[in-house]
Amino acid sequence: MSRTCLLLILAAGAGTRMKSEVPKVLHKVAGVSLLSHLLCTATQSDVDKICVVIRSGDQAVSDSVEDCSDIFFFEQPDQLGTAHAVLAARDLLKEELDDVVIIFGDTPLIERSDIIELRATLENGADLVLMGFHTDNPRGYGRLLFREGRIKAIIEEEDASDEQKKINFCNAGMIAIKREHLLFLLEKVKNKNRKHEYYLTDIVKLADACGLDIRVLRVEREKYIGINNRVDLAKVEEVWQRKKRHELMLNGVTLQAPESVFFSYDTEIAADVLIEPHVFFGPGVKIDSGTIIHAFSYIEGAVISANTRIGPYARLRSGTQLHPAVKVGNFCEIKKASVGFETKINHNSYIGDAEIGANVNIGAGTVICNYDAYHKHRTTIADGAFIGSNTSLVAPISVGRDSYIASGSVITENVSENTLAFGRARQVNKYEYAKKIRNRLASLEESDG
Ligand code: UD1
Ligand code: CA
Repeated sequence: MSRTCLLLILAAGAGTRMKSEVPKVLHKVAGVSLLSHLLCTATQSDVDKICVVIRSGDQAVSDSVEDCSDIFFFEQPDQLGTAHAVLAARDLLKEELDDVVIIFGDTPLIERSDIIELRATLENGADLVLMGFHTDNPRGYGRLLFREGRIKAIIEEEDASDEQKKINFCNAGMIAIKREHLLFLLEKVKNKNRKHEYYLTDIVKLADACGLDIRVLRVEREKYIGINNRVDLAKVEEVWQRKKRHELMLNGVTLQAPESVFFSYDTEIAADVLIEPHVFFGPGVKIDSGTIIHAFSYIEGAVISANTRIGPYARLRSGTQLHPAVKVGNFCEIKKASVGFETKINHNSYIGDAEIGANVNIGAGTVICNYDAYHKHRTTIADGAFIGSNTSLVAPISVGRDSYIASGSVITENVSENTLAFGRARQVNKYEYAKKIRNRLASLEESDG
């Protein structure tokens, strides 16, 4: 693109309709904030500068951005409307960039291709470019007013007449404008409307009056759902999940009941992975091919190699690394642990802060006691070890190669290689005592009366 561009994200709105202590743009879709979605799209759009307008004192918003080195933040002291918000970045608007693209912080699904199309339309001679969508339910959106095929103005829902409210071609929100016109138009915007706000959308009428070339691009409504309340938030989540499922299936992942599986923004799944119904993926999951995730598993922060079997009802937490052909069965929880080739953790176990070698068998009900109320301690289990059922491994502890731990043990001392370890009281069998004890208990019952 030959023209330079500033991309402005408006994120200062009070977000009253969210009924939340959390600033609206920090609410999450697919495990990441609305703002992160937009910044990710923005940075991929090859613009020259990115700027975010936040509410004064909304430190949490700027703090949430991990790498802000290339991002400019401006504060809007009072939330007096979208035109007023753009003016908060006045200093940048005076600079010599050619164009300005303005996006709303509450429409996280917009795509890079749309930003590029807007910019291309300016390159083709337009002065101001809007985006519009058709919908059966236009409530809450600004309506695009046309006369003789030309866009004349945008009227906001609150100010629209009953007749105008019937218009179902709506303002999607994102606009692009040649910078030379922007400040001049914004300064003319008044707040004579029902909400007493300075509406960015009013620049359309003003631009038309100046004879500027205004164009409208049609977009899909789904990509431009503005999140004003929690219902919209759920709708956007739904759209995002649907797209992700579709993309994964086309890439060779089997989803038996796609609508019951939820992914995060960064979930990576290779071809030939099978996912059964009702599985949730939090951030940081990567799965290699041939793996099966059985139903009702909850997985986050886990790197899962090829040909593993997970679940049903498994919980993998942050820092889990599974090597190929590992099996993790029902009601097993793993966190901050690596598990070696062909190791089995099949039933009801907790594995935390551990390094487990290859071909280890972790018996049913094994628990790593990693926490002493003050610190977390590590456990290592070397290749080929057999951990009997219902063992407690009290960390820090190491279990040697090919060692064997008797079931029911509480292991508090390191076990060296090839060693058989018992950590439980020896069993005592008393012949005929069953009868004795019964008689004694029965006589007590009689005397109790
Ligand atoms: C806005 C548009 C409407 C459009 C809809 C699309 C205006 C006046 N209306 O309505 O035509 O159909 O989006 O989703 O532009 N913001 C600030 N400071 C403010 C006010 C808002 O930064 O003082 C930010 C908000 O954080 C939000 C964005 O601007 O990200 C839009 O504001 P919002 O109040 O959600 O506008 P809508 O009523 O949805
Ligand atoms: Ca909105």
